[in-house]
Amino acid sequence: MNPAATHRQELEFHAFSETLALCQEVAARFNEPARLIRVHRFPDGESLVRVESRGPSRAVVMRSLDDPNSKLVELLFAADALRRHGVDELILVAPYLAYMRQDRAFREGEAVSQQVVAAALGAAFDRVITVDAHLHRIARLAEVFPCEARSVSAADTLGEWCEKAGHDLVVGPDEESLSLARAVAERAGRPFVVCSKSRSGDREVKVSLPSLHTPTRSALIVDDIGSSGVTLEAVAHALRAAGVEVIDAAVVHALFREDALDRLRDAGVASLVSSDSVAHPTNRISLAPLLADALRQPLGAEG
Ligand code: R5P
Repeated sequence: MNPAATHRQELEFHAFSETLALCQEVAARFNEPARLIRVHRFPDGESLVRVESRGPSRAVVMRSLDDPNSKLVELLFAADALRRHGVDELILVAPYLAYMRQDRAFREGEAVSQQVVAAALGAAFDRVITVDAHLHRIARLAEVFPCEARSVSAADTLGEWCEKAGHDLVVGPDEESLSLARAVAERAGRPFVVCSKSRSGDREVKVSLPSLHTPTRSALIVDDIGSSGVTLEAVAHALRAAGVEVIDAAVVHALFREDALDRLRDAGVASLVSSDSVAHPTNRISLAPLLADALRQPLGAEG
C-alpha cells in the first residue's frame, strides 16, 4: 500500500448485490456512488468476479459473510480485481464476519477456522472493519489479523432503537451477551438482566433467567447473533414463565434459518428486529451511520 494514499479522502465503494443497499447508504455519506461487483456463476459452480474502478484510489469492498464459503472466495477475487485496477488501499467492510467462533481446536483434528480466515482476508485487504465480531478467547481482532482489523459495536444503535421501544427490561441470553445487553440498556436508560445458558448441541439450549425483582410487563431480548433461534426461543419461554406479557427481540446479525421465525412466534416473541448487517426481512436498524464513522477513522487510530 502506498502510505500517501492514507491521507486521501476519496473512497471508492464496491459491493456485492446482497450488500448493495447498505453500501449505497454508507457511500452516500461520502457523496460517492456504490458500484456493483458482478458475479457470474459457471455451471460447474465456479465464480467469475468483475469490478469497475476508476483506478488508483482507496476502495471499500462491502460484503457480509453469512453463508460464508463461496462469499469468502468471491471476496478474495474482488480484492484481486481491484488491485489489478491499481487500487492501493483496500478496505473490507464485512458487517458480519464469519468463522470468528472457532478460535481454537476444541477437539483433536479440528482446524482453527478463525486463524485461516483472518490470514486470508488480512493478506488480501489492508484494513478490515466489522460489527460485533463474536470473539471468545481473544479480546480484539488485531490479535489474529495480520492487517488493521476493528470490530465496532452496534450497542448504541440498538440502544437508540430500544429507548424508543420503551421496554421495562433488557435481557441478554447468556454471559457472553453481558457487554451488549448492558450497553444497550444503558443507552436506552433501562434495567437489564443476563441469563445463564448451556448448549448441548446446535439446537439444544437451556436457559435460566434470574429472578425479576421489579414488576416486568415487557422485555426486549438482545443478542449479537440469531441463527437457529433456539437461544431466543428458550429465553422467551423463561420470560413467559416469569409472567412477562410482551416479549420482543433484537439481534445485530440475523442469520436465521428455516423455521426460526415461526418457532419464535410460537414461543411468544411478538416482534423481532435486526440490524441490516445481513439482509433479512426483520431488518429495521440501519448500521450505515456506524459504518461510515468507522471508515472515517484514520489508519492506525483503531485498537
Ligand atoms: C452465542 O453465544 C451467540 O451469542 C448467540 O446466542 C448464538 O449464536 C445464537 O444461536 P442460535 O440462534 O442458534 O441459538
